Amino acid sequence: MTTEPTTPDKAPSEEIERPIRRPEVLSTCDEIVGACRVLGSDRATLGLVPTMGALHAGHLSLVDAAQAECDHTVVTVFVNPTQFGPKEDFSAYPRDLDADLVALGQHGVTLVFAPSTEEIYPEGFATYVENDGVASEWEGACRPGHFRGVTTVVAKLLNLVMPKVAYFGQKDYQQSLVIRRMVADLNMHPEIRVCPIVRESDGLALSSRNVYLSAEERLRALALSQSLRLAEQLVDDGEGDTAVIERRMRQLIESVGGVALEYIALADPYTLKSVSEIAGPTVAALAARVGSTRLIDNTILSGTLSDLEFS
Ligand code: PAJ
Repeated sequence: MTTEPTTPDKAPSEEIERPIRRPEVLSTCDEIVGACRVLGSDRATLGLVPTMGALHAGHLSLVDAAQAECDHTVVTVFVNPTQFGPKEDFSAYPRDLDADLVALGQHGVTLVFAPSTEEIYPEGFATYVENDGVASEWEGACRPGHFRGVTTVVAKLLNLVMPKVAYFGQKDYQQSLVIRRMVADLNMHPEIRVCPIVRESDGLALSSRNVYLSAEERLRALALSQSLRLAEQLVDDGEGDTAVIERRMRQLIESVGGVALEYIALADPYTLKSVSEIAGPTVAALAARVGSTRLIDNTILSGTLSDLEFS
């Protein structure tokens, strides 16, 4: 017969599990610059993952990519007001820094930058970074000023952290192109990595905004990813006419109902200009409102993200 130890300090499972370290959270620009200088000494490489928090497995896939490639990962959590329009969801945007820190600790992140709005945009702030090219299409047309806010804050974060590599998601395909262009045009140094879209098992692309969806809206929202799968299927079956593909996508979405399309585009993956034929890797992207929630999704037709070549 075995006897239980009378004074166990820890359950056996606790003895083998390492305690999860909560990352250090810095909130001022001076602090993050100082900490990144220390981390980057001895030629250690820094990876930067910019986020607006409310982290999910999509964000964490970027963190894992950074952790795998770089010596240290810095994650920023900042709901950037300048990329939201006056009627958009800036104040309602989900915020849960505690939960984010737990998730980041579990993924081995030790340093988080979570500044206040005033820290990033102090009184007198007057300098913005603006892209006049790919930023004008799609999201830029639907959300005036959005990319100006994105490029400005990402430029600031890159300047503060000075990473070797910065990680972005294909989920915001256009954003990744705009950032690549900014880094090239302004002679910035980081390499830009773009990681594939993480989806729920039923196809819905993970998004911090999915929490806004009711159960019924969530079902309707599946029409977005289903229409992209349909486009992939049509291309696999030999369809090359983008007008036909777009029409079939629209029909699928309309048949579900309750999904208000803002745009569907089949376009060149570098310029985002519409194409009439599938003659190589082509980006299919769409934005739609389901109830009051705005969702975006995309896929690469006739190729994959890794087939795309960026200098
Ligand atoms: P946010 O929406 O929080 O997204 C942060 C990063 O996570 C982005 O690069 C985004 O493309 C990526 N991401 C979001 N959902 C994903 C998914 N399902 N699969 C893979 N990656 C995903 O994008 C922003 O914040 C902001 O514009 C920011 C770049 C932080 C500037 O404020």
